[in-house]
Amino acid sequence: MHQTVHVDLAERSYDVEIGPGLLAQSGERIAPLLKRPRVAVLTDETVAGMHLDALRDGLASAGIKMTALALPAGEATKSWPHFERAVEWLLAEKVERNDIVVALGGGVIGDLAGFAAAVMRRGVSFVQIPTSLLAQVDSSVGGKTGINAPQGKNLIGAFHQPSLVLADTDVLGTLQTRDFLAGYGEVVKYGLLGDAQFFEWLEDNGPLLTSGDMAARVQAVTRSVQMKADIVARDETEQGDRALLNLGHTFCHALEAATGYSDRLLHGEGVAIGCALAFETSSRLGLCSQEDPSRVRAHLSAMGMKTDLADIPGELPDAETLVDLMAQDKKVMDGQLRFIMARGIGQAFVTPDVPRETVVSVLKDALEV
Ligand SMILES: NC(=O)c1ccc[n+]([C@@H]2O[C@H](COP(=O)([O-])OP(=O)(O)OC[C@H]3O[C@@H](n4cnc5c(N)ncnc54)[C@H](O)[C@@H]3O)[C@@H](O)[C@H]2O)c1
Ligand SMILES: [Zn+2]
Repeated sequence: MHQTVHVDLAERSYDVEIGPGLLAQSGERIAPLLKRPRVAVLTDETVAGMHLDALRDGLASAGIKMTALALPAGEATKSWPHFERAVEWLLAEKVERNDIVVALGGGVIGDLAGFAAAVMRRGVSFVQIPTSLLAQVDSSVGGKTGINAPQGKNLIGAFHQPSLVLADTDVLGTLQTRDFLAGYGEVVKYGLLGDAQFFEWLEDNGPLLTSGDMAARVQAVTRSVQMKADIVARDETEQGDRALLNLGHTFCHALEAATGYSDRLLHGEGVAIGCALAFETSSRLGLCSQEDPSRVRAHLSAMGMKTDLADIPGELPDAETLVDLMAQDKKVMDGQLRFIMARGIGQAFVTPDVPRETVVSVLKDALEV
């Protein structure tokens, strides 16, 4: 059941291992990267309570000692104060140039630990052990690391590729349903952006995934990682194609800003709604058929996911305000809104040619439902 995806980036290449039982094998898999049998682990308190002992045992079985720092769980941890604490802890633990930092957790820990590894002693290697579905299919692969600024999300960071990613699909079993489904929003995104067959497979197998079927989980994570790895290998620093991974994200970022990055809307939930809106916009522009947005929404709601703006609790600002929030997205270049539109399911492309009026009217209608 175990799968390997290779991320092909010349001297920065690495493997993503996917399957159950990888925490137990972490020692033997990390050992070849080490100059001395010792690692420093950054994690969050929730994940530490559930999975840190298994990691410690897995490392110990290969004679590797571990020290760990558990930061509070949650997005607020991706900030200067916690980042400073993490870096100073790593220095206090005497992590050296040739040592390895391990990130055990969701995207918050992966982004923060990766950034800490990027700047410590001008760069130390790190290993991602993603524990949320979102982190396994998205944030642990591709080398974007960083923290949030008071001015906005992910504004401080660096490209720093991991040396290895261990995606243990067993640990997904302890995720809250809401967090699992939020990660699933990114999984659906891969089907929608580049693989219609995968989307069809998800329509058939989505329920198996949520019920915990391990073979299905491994297959879904593997296909997602393959797609991300291919795109990142073509365009590591997002000069072109990598933007495809932002399908649904321009809408999502506006919704996240409108809901104050709060519990009202998780990132992956916003991505799912954003994908539905991107297909709606594509259909209005005559780029794809009218059935496509309906099919996207039907799958999301069949999975019990947030699908429409009405599924977001509380008030939302009006359509014009939401479009203004989109324009503040950091993906905007020269004031031009770059959108990811689709010619059909699995056929996304990047375009600056989306009239503001169309987006406003899509949002107006979506707000009225
Ligand atoms: N670097 C990238 O390319 C990239 C891509 C997408 C998202 N991100 C970032 O990822 C972050 C979101 O990631 P996330 O959704 O994983 O958030 P997260 O790290 O906050 O994890 C979500 C919640 O799940 C808990 N959790 C994680 N694994 C668990 C497990 N196995 N069992 C039980 N609980 C578990 C965490 O403690 C947390 O409460 C955002 O900050 C986003 O900006 C980065
Ligand atoms: Zn995302």
